Amino acid sequence: MTHDIAGEARRRRTFAVISHPDAGKSTLTEALALHAKAITNAGAVHGKGDRRGVTSDWLEMERERGISITSAALQFTIGDTVINLLDTPGHADFSEDTYRVLSAVDSAVMLLDAAKGLEPQTLKLFDVCRYRGIPVLTFINKWDRPGLDPIELCEELTQRINLTPMPLTWPVGIAGDFKGVVDLSAGTMIKYQRTAGGATAAGEQHLDAAEAEADAGQAWQDALDESELVVAEDGEFDVDRYLDGSATPVLFGAAVLNFGVKQLLDQLVELAPRPEPRPDVNDQPRPLDAPFSAFVFKVQTGMDPAHRDQVAFARVCSGRFERGMTVTNATTGRPFATKYVQQVFGQQRSTMDEAYPGDVIGLVNATALRVGDTLYEGKPKVKFPGLPSFAPAHFAVARPRDLGRAKQFRKGVDQLESEGVVQVLRSDRRGEGVPIFAAVGPMQFEVASHRLDVEFGVGVELERLPYRTVRLLTNREHRKTIEASRRGEVLTRSDGADLALFADEIALGTLQRQHPDLAVEHLVAGT
Ligand code: G4P
Repeated sequence: MTHDIAGEARRRRTFAVISHPDAGKSTLTEALALHAKAITNAGAVHGKGDRRGVTSDWLEMERERGISITSAALQFTIGDTVINLLDTPGHADFSEDTYRVLSAVDSAVMLLDAAKGLEPQTLKLFDVCRYRGIPVLTFINKWDRPGLDPIELCEELTQRINLTPMPLTWPVGIAGDFKGVVDLSAGTMIKYQRTAGGATAAGEQHLDAAEAEADAGQAWQDALDESELVVAEDGEFDVDRYLDGSATPVLFGAAVLNFGVKQLLDQLVELAPRPEPRPDVNDQPRPLDAPFSAFVFKVQTGMDPAHRDQVAFARVCSGRFERGMTVTNATTGRPFATKYVQQVFGQQRSTMDEAYPGDVIGLVNATALRVGDTLYEGKPKVKFPGLPSFAPAHFAVARPRDLGRAKQFRKGVDQLESEGVVQVLRSDRRGEGVPIFAAVGPMQFEVASHRLDVEFGVGVELERLPYRTVRLLTNREHRKTIEASRRGEVLTRSDGADLALFADEIALGTLQRQHPDLAVEHLVAGT
């Protein structure tokens, strides 16, 4: 049987929501799925107080409706389009994992709280999108509550991140007194109609301009005037500017009321990029219809509290994945039998019998797989570039509590480093046996010490270092300058990069004034 792999790839939209905690990501996810009719009652995905409950709800739904959900990706179909919404763990456990998810998506939705605008975690995630050339759609949420002025929110995008807003809808009525949105391309108003508790998709009434004027009066006129101002400021919609990352389509809504979400989904279907051939290590794009290949972007342990399982999540880059096929791990050259693995997984999560480029597969009990590994079928071998490291912001010296376990400690640290649980830095000054853990989020330290303890039987002591500012040192000669100044320290990462660490920007600034030629650069994804 032949399969139209390129056609299947074209149907896929694989994206993640980037946001700051509490902006409404879970609510939006639920609302998107609701619009796709994957879930009939809101509330099944949402439920922050009990994330475990959420997972089991999902698994339950998976059984009932045959949609494939893992904690890493929610897949649903709308019309002919297959939506893969990848989860960016972005709450208390903000970590390198959050960033890595962005290596597996083709686009992102930037979700902003109308009362808060751009917030720190959103900015960090946006930086990665920009660096990796990931197009961003913007959804301004919580319009049912008092918030900032829509023009102000748009200006913030231009001024703070140099991203031109191209409004597609515009709110009618100020935040907190929401009447609906203008559909700018049609010149009509989509009137907000309250439904009981937002439990079903909000009813939509489309009004033409005259009806809108009669219905919303001055608020309609104000919305037209304001949106015109923003459009006139270089905000005319242009799909190429969205795709090249210089501008972002902007939509307004209230996820909790399911309002404006359908428009977002429509735009994702219409505009968001499809999976493209992914370049391999030799920079040769792997055709979508080449034999199966995928790369592991996330490894998660302990998803099932009853077993110490390990699930590797891989994004399919080419070909067709079929449950049961044997693939090769390009890093080790070893075969990997997906059938055995998935049987161990049990009924619940094994509904994904086949997958195409853009999809995410969860390989259970995949203890041999590491973040960054490539899996492929057939010959010749293919390998995708390893996943980049990201600028760490937390540093800690790690020491075994019991020096008699130094060997296990070394082994454990190597293992954690190879899995990307933490980055490991070293320097001659501190000694080869004294690794410094570097992390994007402090949760990574907890995971690292827990695993050293449980898996390698080594209790560790972590001494946090007071550094908050990190740069890439591009001239080794300057290491002495930094260290002699006592304002910073230089540590080497296993990929050979020299990282210069400083207490804060002030310490770095002072040193740069004394040594204007200091060769340091900002670290972003991939450096
Ligand atoms: P997160 O995943 O980004 O952290 O956000 P989450 O969806 O959990 O939403 C955070 C809070 O914001 C929730 O309220 C949620 O109900 C609320 N929220 C999300 N979208 C909207 C919206 O469009 N309008 C309004 N007014 N609120 C919204 P909570 O009180 O923390 O939780 P809950 O008790 O409502 O579940």
